[in-house]
Amino acid sequence: MRFDSGFFDVGLDRMGTASVKWGLPGVFEQGMIPLWVADMDFRGCPAVTEALEKRAKHPCYGYTMITGEDRRAFCSWWQSRHGVLVEPMQIAFLPSVVSGLRVCVQEYSKPGDGVIIQTPVYGPFFASIEEAGRRVLEAPLTRGADGRFAMDLSAVEEHLKAGARLMILCNPHNPVGRAWTREELAGLTALLSAYGCALVSDEIHADFVYAPAEFTSMLAMDWEPATVLTSASKTFNLAGLQHANIVCRDPKRLNALELRLHRAGVECGNLMALAATKAAYEQGADWLDGLLDYLNQNRAFLAARLAELLPEAVVTPSEATYLAWVDISALGFSNAEAYRRCRDAGVIPTDGTAFGKTAGEGFMRLNYGCPRSQLNEGLKRFAAALKGE
Ligand SMILES: Cc1ncc(COP(=O)(O)O)c(C=O)c1O
Repeated sequence: MRFDSGFFDVGLDRMGTASVKWGLPGVFEQGMIPLWVADMDFRGCPAVTEALEKRAKHPCYGYTMITGEDRRAFCSWWQSRHGVLVEPMQIAFLPSVVSGLRVCVQEYSKPGDGVIIQTPVYGPFFASIEEAGRRVLEAPLTRGADGRFAMDLSAVEEHLKAGARLMILCNPHNPVGRAWTREELAGLTALLSAYGCALVSDEIHADFVYAPAEFTSMLAMDWEPATVLTSASKTFNLAGLQHANIVCRDPKRLNALELRLHRAGVECGNLMALAATKAAYEQGADWLDGLLDYLNQNRAFLAARLAELLPEAVVTPSEATYLAWVDISALGFSNAEAYRRCRDAGVIPTDGTAFGKTAGEGFMRLNYGCPRSQLNEGLKRFAAALKGE
């Protein structure tokens, strides 16, 4: 099968599938275009569907274990796609990356401690810290004249000096679309090492980096304490199956995290998730390559189309993810007003303040993981909403 534009242009009807993305009130009833949550509207990888069908046809769904084959499939994927060597026993399993964020916050910090995050950033980073009784320490990203974001290591160091115990990194970064370079990561690890601060790196967007940029995993930094959270769920759009990974080269840390999960009653081994994930890693490379070409074209399309329809908006130059971080501050609306106008015009972005009340003010995030015709209609409505047409 060819995974070309024709394949991804077709899209799919998600009516009746209990999709969170399409389940917001008004989406089906009023034909709204959902460009919010990071979930894609494409036909999935056929090898995954076949593996699920095959497993479903075997009429027994008893307790299931994670085997060496599952572990090796993960390791081969990370070696071939990212040049990172992971040993099979350096992986632990859990239902989702967000459950991993929560367990890491509990393991690596104490109630009342400060945890550093680089804002704007994925909303559940805040919740994982605050709901565990820790304090969010924002080290806001800086923004260059071209709109590109960068790390502010001096802001990180201020928090380290004040005693921060943990930092959570988003790599690649949602929503600003940066794939952090080896130099940037080396600067960060040197700083964290100097202060003995733990690091959790959320690498769920690892597979969405556009050449010439490259993905550099924290696992490629030869820094043993790093704890990496990742999943095939973003790459292959399998979030409904609930299966993710913690990778850590320090066996003590990995064991401690596994013990915490165990004590919380969290066990893994969803047989459908295992079948799908193994098929994705073993047979999904061609589908993903086709998808990346398509998304890369969508990325350029979005920037060009918004420049034409809404020149006041500034699209953040990005290297990664399928999410565009759009500065609409020149239009003069509050975020609440801009969001309301978008909904009234029949398009649903993610309000930038979901990524930080201050850092996200004046921004909306648009998900371009959908057929181009859907994206085009969504962008037309977005522009009309904010122009007041
Ligand atoms: C940076 C980041 N981490 C985690 C998640 C969610 O992962 P999970 O569904 O495995 O909890 C997302 C989803 O958008 C994300 O963007």
